[in-house]
Amino acid sequence: MGVLDGKSAIVTGAGSGVGRASALRFCQEGARVVVADIDLDNAKETVRQAESAGGTAITVGADVADEAAVEGMIGAAVDAFGRLDILFNNVGIPTPRLGMSLEDHTMDDFNRLVGVNLGGVFLGCKHAVLQFKKQGGGGVILNTASVAGMVGWGGTVYGATKGGVLQLTRAVAVEAAPFDIRVNAICPAGMPLTGFMAAGGLDVDAAKQAEIAKMVGGQHPLGRAITAEDCAEAALYLVSNAARNVTGVALPIDGGFVAR
Ligand SMILES: NC(=O)c1ccc[n+]([C@@H]2O[C@H](COP(=O)([O-])OP(=O)(O)OC[C@H]3O[C@@H](n4cnc5c(N)ncnc54)[C@H](O)[C@@H]3O)[C@@H](O)[C@H]2O)c1
Repeated sequence: MGVLDGKSAIVTGAGSGVGRASALRFCQEGARVVVADIDLDNAKETVRQAESAGGTAITVGADVADEAAVEGMIGAAVDAFGRLDILFNNVGIPTPRLGMSLEDHTMDDFNRLVGVNLGGVFLGCKHAVLQFKKQGGGGVILNTASVAGMVGWGGTVYGATKGGVLQLTRAVAVEAAPFDIRVNAICPAGMPLTGFMAAGGLDVDAAKQAEIAKMVGGQHPLGRAITAEDCAEAALYLVSNAARNVTGVALPIDGGFVAR
């Protein structure tokens, strides 16, 4: 018996990092998963891994900043699995160059970060809530924010978008609670071993990546870098019935970083 047996889930950004680890973990626990990503080849690889482990998953190519694509993604889950129980809004993009200062950002940079990181979560929440209300029986939304949305760390505009994700999480949690819809967020600290650094223009080999992981982990009281699998375990708890009375929370996955 898996803790997500019979559940239908969508994980966005599931072609890499936290999204892939979560999609695979949800499948292991019996969910049928829509692996959504703008990068279809990587999404297909996640589905291949899920299926080879005995799971059920399908691929959907979707840009979470595009409302029609988000509606299509939710429609694909309903067509394939009959309903939607869980939406994990996990997509996030870094600043165009990791480490850039506020004054380096152009208005285009700002609009893109807000459009994908906050706009994507808004669209996901909106259309999941519409679907949950239409089908009845409640539902679960999980959003990926960041410790950068809780403290000044990891990019000014990026952090502001993640602060927005946290407030959206709390507000939707309260508004949707009467419909038994739960909404939570995970807040990872730096995860140097996902695809995020490359997306932020930092192209390093495996040895350098391991060195950066050691350095980043050293900033956490527990002394270890955060992994995608750490986030997947937290995600699994928050989307499962074990968390049936948990809503509106922001759970740091950060080795004690924000507690310091
Ligand atoms: N890696 C870190 O250091 C770190 C730290 C804190 C929070 N986060 C957050 O964790 C989440 C996952 O990050 P990750 O480290 O797994 O990154 P990743 O780059 O490994 O994965 C992100 C995935 O999202 C996809 N994607 C990007 N834009 C998209 C769009 N518009 N529509 C659909 N898919 C899109 C990418 O193709 C990729 O597969 C993000 O929200 C990120 O902001 C990451």
